Amino acid sequence: MRDLNEHTLTDEVISRFANSKSPRIKQISEALVRHLHDFVREIEPTQEEWEFAIDFLTRTGHMCDDKRQEFILLSDALGVSMLVDAINHRMPEGVTETTVFGPFYVEGAKQYELGGDITEGVSGTPMLITGTVSDQDGKPLAGATVNLWQSDTEGFYDVQRLDSLALRGVLHTNDRGEFSCWTVRPSAYPIPDDGPVGQMLEAQGRHPYRPAHVHFMIEAPGFQKLVTHVFADGDTYLDSDVVFGVKNSLIREYEMREPGQAPDGRDVTEPYAYLHYDFRLKRA
Ligand code: BEZ
Ligand code: FE
Repeated sequence: MRDLNEHTLTDEVISRFANSKSPRIKQISEALVRHLHDFVREIEPTQEEWEFAIDFLTRTGHMCDDKRQEFILLSDALGVSMLVDAINHRMPEGVTETTVFGPFYVEGAKQYELGGDITEGVSGTPMLITGTVSDQDGKPLAGATVNLWQSDTEGFYDVQRLDSLALRGVLHTNDRGEFSCWTVRPSAYPIPDDGPVGQMLEAQGRHPYRPAHVHFMIEAPGFQKLVTHVFADGDTYLDSDVVFGVKNSLIREYEMREPGQAPDGRDVTEPYAYLHYDFRLKRA
């Protein structure tokens, strides 16, 4: 096939995928080229714009290392991560909804007793987190693994400013499916915006902020792994989360309480925040 032009090129490229190694590779390759060519036909980039696009992707790759994943950030900021999440987690009524995983999870966080202090000395407004894990019908799940991680009061994760882990931990539910720990209240924070994704947000006239939240990853044998957050009610950024992760069912009050006996029985001498969430897992 010769003398291809803007009208005939797409079909010719697609025809070359006839001997793909699997039907899925063929399907994906065809759709990729169809949508990519349509995109280029729609925007009609100048040569300079196309070179900028290549350079943008090159810089995105160069920004990646074992601590920073700029491509995931790009997927997050363009809503693709949440789209993939939505497609893969069509949850039945009554099961806790999922949201984006994010780049700040760390494998091998410390295990804590129920009611333990996960701050490792990081200061801030004390916060008690309590919760339950149950199945879709509300039957408590004992021994479920609850992995949680969060930013500090100034919006930074341990991996961004400390040499050691803090404000993250692994808990196991008791016989009633309950878990609890003491931490500090997280705050809203900007996603890392000193790279190409930050430049893109700036050019698109967008802020880089996420509303305050605590991340949870919950696992129990026979159930689907749940990756989600619980967001702070009233946060400024609930309706403009830069990565589109907020769902109404995941918002709870981080309720401010006066000093006294906390719901876990502990005597607290300063005002503290209290967050409770009942998680329900979907059967595998
Ligand atoms: C986070 O919540 O940790 C996060 C999610 C997506 C991009 C950046 C951060
Ligand atoms: Fe986060």
